[in-house]
Amino acid sequence: MVIDGIIIVIAYLLGSIPSGLIIGKAFYGVDIREHGSGNLGGTNTFRTLGVKAGMAVTIADILKGTAAVLLSILLEPGIHPLIAGIFAVIGHMYPIFAGFKGGKAVATSGGVLLGYAAPMFIIIILVFFACLYITKYVSLSSMLAALVSVIYACVIRDLPLIIVTSLLAFFVIYRHRANIRRIVNKTEPKIKWL
Ligand code: G3P
Repeated sequence: MVIDGIIIVIAYLLGSIPSGLIIGKAFYGVDIREHGSGNLGGTNTFRTLGVKAGMAVTIADILKGTAAVLLSILLEPGIHPLIAGIFAVIGHMYPIFAGFKGGKAVATSGGVLLGYAAPMFIIIILVFFACLYITKYVSLSSMLAALVSVIYACVIRDLPLIIVTSLLAFFVIYRHRANIRRIVNKTEPKIKWL
């Protein structure tokens, strides 16, 4: 019981590490929240600080979710490892270390799926890049990948995974409300490098 609580707190704190803020400030002297979309995630870091910083933030954000799930698997608590993953994503969206204003749940959710079901992660990455190649919208590709993760979970009939991917997809779509409005208005920025 105590271990369950400890894992949940550690998962939340892991998710709360604001990679974009740390890398932006430490290496570029830039607060990425004051640039581009204002989002504290990999996409806005790519947009504001370039490929190297964007990759570093994306990988760090993915690893937060993976680490939370793997820690939970390792310590074998009473809770399902995906619960730890959910708390890592909540930490990423509402980080205690960055005024509770965090990212849009995409990379850390991906990391949770990587830690729990790596083949699924590969499929959603393929879906993400296929959609990105066709539409050039990172936000739309992120939302589609989140929805495909739910479909995948249904196909393999893993009930905890169905529940958790549905919740993560809800988080992702909810956090992309402004992007959805911009896509509809045709003002959402498209990437230029793919
Ligand atoms: O992962 C976030 C991405 O889908 C959108 O980010 O900065 O374009 O709002 P942004």
